Amino acid sequence: MAKSKSVYVCQNCGVESSKWVGKCPSCGEWNTFVEQVISKSPHPKSSLAHEFSERQTPQKLSEIIPRKEGRISSNIQELDRILGGGIVPGSMILIGGEPGIGKSTLSLQMALRLNHLKSLYVSGEESPQQIKMRADRLKLSNEGCFILSETSLESIFNHIVNIKPDIIIIDSIQTLFSEHLESTAGTVSQIRETAARLLKFAKESGTPVFLIGHITKEGNLAGPKVLEHIVDTVLQFEGDQHHMYRILRTTKNRFGSTSELGIFEMSDKGLREVSNPSEVLITQTDEQLSGTTVASTINGARPLLIEIQALVSSAAYGTPQRSSTGLNIRRLAMLLAVLEKRAGFRLGQKDVFLNIAGGIKVDDPATDLSVIASVLSSNLDLTIDKSICFAGEVGLTGEIRPVNRIEQRISEADKLGFKKIYISRFNSKGIDTSKFNIEIIKVGKVEELFRSLFKKN
Ligand code: TYD
Ligand code: MG
Repeated sequence: MAKSKSVYVCQNCGVESSKWVGKCPSCGEWNTFVEQVISKSPHPKSSLAHEFSERQTPQKLSEIIPRKEGRISSNIQELDRILGGGIVPGSMILIGGEPGIGKSTLSLQMALRLNHLKSLYVSGEESPQQIKMRADRLKLSNEGCFILSETSLESIFNHIVNIKPDIIIIDSIQTLFSEHLESTAGTVSQIRETAARLLKFAKESGTPVFLIGHITKEGNLAGPKVLEHIVDTVLQFEGDQHHMYRILRTTKNRFGSTSELGIFEMSDKGLREVSNPSEVLITQTDEQLSGTTVASTINGARPLLIEIQALVSSAAYGTPQRSSTGLNIRRLAMLLAVLEKRAGFRLGQKDVFLNIAGGIKVDDPATDLSVIASVLSSNLDLTIDKSICFAGEVGLTGEIRPVNRIEQRISEADKLGFKKIYISRFNSKGIDTSKFNIEIIKVGKVEELFRSLFKKN
């Protein structure tokens, strides 16, 4: 009998070593090596090159016949939009997110809404009874939706052959295991093997496969990076559990644009789509408060108006605090330095807190102008009218720089009934102002913004 051999595999990056090491030489992570026995079974080593090498010969691009069938609608508009217009047949989509964020809810909701198709929802985490309870909460039912509580890949494939589903959901990839490998479920080799075989199945049969993936405490998708490489689309489900809104973001998409956002609200009947996010992200009160302004941002293809709140107060302790939710803290520090140096505001001894309403994160530089206006407003305790919004980047010299797709930003603000928008002076060329009702105010420097906002006389 052949002697069984074992290797040590880094659970973070998948590097193999013949002996245990404390620190991975490849990714630098500590304590990630796990012993794995190499199976002696005649199962071919699953490498992607191997899986696809059979039956395929090189073809001229011009001779390849595109698949006729178009995209499949998930019947969840927000999901369709971030996928680039629906589910592409044969594609593999990975949904990642923290526990309890709503990955299982979203996928079950999709499976139940696809009532013209046969769907197979495989759960390695919940029993069919638990899934039934969830479906009852969602108040949805679908005769074509099959539930399977199973973790063995081989047995799942047997059921797939019998049921012939049009769409498959695996909840989650970390619970699957292949009987060909001796390592436990959730290890790098199991994730790699099961995902590669599901991918092969998806490509050959044209059946879209959704994989649900856990994320690590650092916020990365658990498992090897290779998982993100082999799937076609990676969707990240974000949002604090305590916030009402959940944001679905594409971080990779072979069939559409990335950085699209889909916004959902968790209700007692599952996830509800939020189709007019700008309206919900802005506090609807008549009260005027200092430190609150609205920025016209762009996320993916969609303009989004968000509320930025700042609170500036005298530092309670020796070292002033800077805290930011939803916006990069370094960006905030840079903007405060610009205000201090270029506009002469003494913020060095002040605590500054910044918050983007609704728990969303933005990295659009066009929020700079709004951040500055919020900080100034809170510092002076002077309110800025709620009908004003901002779109501009601030440079290190205090200049207001142009931002992309300005017309779209203006038009969104106009549509939502804002009366004035501040933009960069250098952004105004070629804008057809006649088609907007909103007043466009052009500023070139931070001082100009300050004068225009607060020095009325
Ligand atoms: P779930 O989909 O189980 O999260 P994940 O699969 O990402 O771990 O989401 C569970 C959370 O959603 C849980 O905290 C309860 C909440 N929830 C509702 O508020 N309303 C509902 O109708 C459902 C089904 C879940
Ligand atoms: Mg779940």
